[in-house]
Amino acid sequence: MNILVTGGAGFIGSHTVVELIGAGFEPIILDDFSNSQEKVLDRLESILGRKVKYYNANCNDAALLTKIFKEDNIEGVIHFAASKAVGESVEKPLLYYRNNISALVTLLEAMIANGVSNFVFSSSCTVYGQPEVIPVTEETPVLPAASPYGNTKQVGEEIIRDTVAAKPGLKALALRYFNPVGAHESALIGELPIGVPANLVPYVTQTAAGIRQKLMVFGKDYDTPDGTCIRDFIHVVDLAKAHVKALELLVKEAETNYYDFFNIGTGTGTSVQELIDTFERVTNVKLNYEFAPRRAGDIMEIYADVSKSTEKLGWKAEKTLDEALADAWRWQLTLK
Ligand code: WQD
Repeated sequence: MNILVTGGAGFIGSHTVVELIGAGFEPIILDDFSNSQEKVLDRLESILGRKVKYYNANCNDAALLTKIFKEDNIEGVIHFAASKAVGESVEKPLLYYRNNISALVTLLEAMIANGVSNFVFSSSCTVYGQPEVIPVTEETPVLPAASPYGNTKQVGEEIIRDTVAAKPGLKALALRYFNPVGAHESALIGELPIGVPANLVPYVTQTAAGIRQKLMVFGKDYDTPDGTCIRDFIHVVDLAKAHVKALELLVKEAETNYYDFFNIGTGTGTSVQELIDTFERVTNVKLNYEFAPRRAGDIMEIYADVSKSTEKLGWKAEKTLDEALADAWRWQLTLK
């Protein structure tokens, strides 16, 4: 079954391409390389021992989408392509609404027009904001978004829900990712942040590699056991596998107006301090870090309740944080 993977050269997209082929799907990548690199395609070829078809294009190109859907006989879409920097979204909201909302609408219209019925959407635990009760289940209320980026994920889910409810022959799942980390065990693909990383693990590995001088740990006065924030760090390969399960669920679902959403995390909360300690232990590298004031907009604590994804999706994270950080480090060493 041919699956269009938008953003397929990106961090999560590239790992998902590998897992799709392993599960017998045929991924076709659409990526404009605005936040990814074409060399990822060669890396995928090394891992897979074969080429993966790709288009260097943007999801807002309706005519091209129609051409791809017809010529490549596409039966499903996994939609990763989006802008994802919270801070940048505050500076450039319209860029985020174009890339994340306008592109989604264009894609859904093209799917419906061409009878492509299976859709998997990259959503985020950011939709929960700072929840009152932890871990969060899918019943946990969605709170008003703290940034245009977060808003695009909330509104994106609503657009899909409303579209599916109108029964145009579409089945869809939104996957609410927690914090993806790690890299492929081959160390051929991984995260490629542009410029100074905003996220914790790439900042940790770049500091350990000597690219950054020191990691600033944002806040040591939170109401958590060690005072640092708590997150649910999930290995990107586990996350990639959740997409295969999502597609399989959609394909066997008979209801044409089926829509659901799942938490994709490990179910375990890990503090920033614990992550640093784990990194030092598994890599044997001493990390240069110091505590700094809280970062504006950070939530204190969040991790997933994964009962629904375990039961309905038949998926569970298998890799440990030790493996994720060891893989992230091996990947970082290839970038030096
Ligand atoms: C994790 C923790 C930081 C960097 C991200 C995305 C968000 C969503 C979920 C996709 C926080 C601390 C970080 C550093 C630090 N993704 N930290 N020093 O904030 O959970 O959110 O993942 O939808 O959009 O932004 O992830 O990796 O930025 O931060 O102390 O240099 O690490 O304060 O407590 P976050 P993160």
